[in-house]
Amino acid sequence: MIKISPSILSADFARLGAEVRALEAAGADYVHVDVMDGHFVPNITIGAPVVQALRQVTRLPLDVHLMIEQPDRYIPDFAAAGADIITVHQEAVPHLHRTVQLIHGLGKKAGVSLNPATPAATLEIILQQIDLVLVMTVNPGFGGQAFIAETLPKIRQLREMIDRSGRAIELEVDGGVKVDNIASIAAAGADVFVAGSAVFAASDYAQRIAELRQHGQT
Ligand code: DX5
Ligand code: ZN
Repeated sequence: MIKISPSILSADFARLGAEVRALEAAGADYVHVDVMDGHFVPNITIGAPVVQALRQVTRLPLDVHLMIEQPDRYIPDFAAAGADIITVHQEAVPHLHRTVQLIHGLGKKAGVSLNPATPAATLEIILQQIDLVLVMTVNPGFGGQAFIAETLPKIRQLREMIDRSGRAIELEVDGGVKVDNIASIAAAGADVFVAGSAVFAASDYAQRIAELRQHGQT
């Protein structure tokens, strides 16, 4: 069974609580929260207070994607706010084991994300410790960008690495996921799909999530 993690980056921020309730009613598996600092990526979005507010309106796991420098400074705030999965970028973290231990010490699931140009092999050394790998299929910073097809071999490679590890690590993809390409991404081995513009451009979120699920079921 695949999972759909709609990104609230494309939601109506003036009605964020209602949007997240609508996602839960529409059958989303996770809520993907894109945190950007204007340094690691060229955009600024939201922080821990928004996660705390969303924690009050949904029981869905909050899948928090930290696109920020020095994430160790903020991870305790996001954990206290009610994040369930905390994902940091390999490129932003100099001591990956230390950061993963920090997340686990706070009782949360730990994910590591790779930008499109970062090789899969950079995760070989941490695979035994983490719960999720997040493959960026666009350069992070904005919703609504086009899927970079050159990332497909890397998804296949990570699938093999995860299978070899013998651990139940989720393989999540983020960026440009649509109804018409989710099948090929699923065939490469991904099992959690972030979808921002694909979900929020639809007039019926439940129908769009069902379409994504149906096309992604291999
Ligand atoms: C990109 C973010 C994504 C993005 C996905 O920097 O990490 O989560 O919002 O949006 P779509 O699905 O529109 O590419
Ligand atoms: Zn994201």
